[in-house]
Amino acid sequence: MPTNALTVRATMTAVSASTPLQMAVFSARPYDRQFLDQANQQAGLPARLLYYDVALDEHTAALAEGCQLVCVFVNDRLDAPSLRALHGHGVRAVLLRCAGYNNVDLAEAARLGLFVARVPAYSPEAVAEHTLALIMTLNRHTHRAYNRVREGNFMLDGLIGRTLHGRTVGVIGTGRIGLATARILRGLGCTVLGHDPAPSAAFAALGDVVPLSELLQRSDIVSLHCPLSEQTTHLIDDAALALMKPGAMLVNTSRGALVDTEAVIGALKSRRLGSLAIDVYEQEGPLFFQDRSGQIIDDELFARLMTFPNVLVTGHQGFLTGEALEEIAAITLANLGDFAAGRACANAVG
Ligand code: NAI
Repeated sequence: MPTNALTVRATMTAVSASTPLQMAVFSARPYDRQFLDQANQQAGLPARLLYYDVALDEHTAALAEGCQLVCVFVNDRLDAPSLRALHGHGVRAVLLRCAGYNNVDLAEAARLGLFVARVPAYSPEAVAEHTLALIMTLNRHTHRAYNRVREGNFMLDGLIGRTLHGRTVGVIGTGRIGLATARILRGLGCTVLGHDPAPSAAFAALGDVVPLSELLQRSDIVSLHCPLSEQTTHLIDDAALALMKPGAMLVNTSRGALVDTEAVIGALKSRRLGSLAIDVYEQEGPLFFQDRSGQIIDDELFARLMTFPNVLVTGHQGFLTGEALEEIAAITLANLGDFAAGRACANAVG
């Protein structure tokens, strides 16, 4: 992404050393608190961190009253009303503890003069390894075998997988995570194809870069690793699914809206799509990162997905390793330090 390489000068004036910095952390889970508190102590600023488990939107923005900064995650809403509300409450900086920033209205943030920074890279291997965990599980049906064996059912019927060695895997997006995924797949003996409008140079050593249509036609497994943008929304739609090999596997650990869920359900029902593994879901906002086990799920598409034995869903946990959380917290606190000092921030977005 072009903004990765940019070094953008913070527009904020430096906060004096004596000014107590306060940051409201939204969508905060216990592990966020653990790693951010640890990084905050190590950074030695220290800033006062206030944790809220609710997601940020224009209504909850009032919780940031008295804070100069907010810290947010993938499903927090930073649309224009939300940003204006934050600004009205005195917030001057938004720190994303994730790489993607598709949930931020950057034009409005710039108009308000807000400092916005993200964590562009943290253990791409963490997401790549989760992608492989999904592929391996779905391919060898370990999610079903686990339940069977616990119930004393040792029958193997229905558990036939395919040897991954020799399979062709299409990697859409050859950036940090796509590259890490391709490396692991090569290690397994897979043929790797890539598609990317700006392919990374390192990918050339791992596989051929081909047009999207060719990748879809030739791959036994298609794995998505590109960012969500206007161009990539519903990249996998009816037409793309029709090009895929009958029985192929689709894996999405990137962003939910890359996939048209209704189209995918259609392809699963017609038995054309062999299997689906997702760590992200277009309408994940009201579901993921919460315990909804005692409640009725109103989302009909999600409920339908749950009925397929050949669909595997995890709740956006690709990033969730101790190492990645440590890096995310350290970079977030470094971004905070840049804002506080009025320094140029290499991770600024906008
Ligand atoms: P990156 O910026 O290093 O690589 C993205 C690649 O996608 C770039 O090479 C870019 O040229 C390519 N790309 C852009 N438009 C494309 C298109 N239309 N078709 C194919 N390729 C295209 O990003 P990185 O670090 O590899 O992350 C990829 C995505 O993974 C993020 O945007 C984010 O959505 C997702 N992610 C998911 C996580 C999870 O927990 N499940 C955690 C972290 C990131």
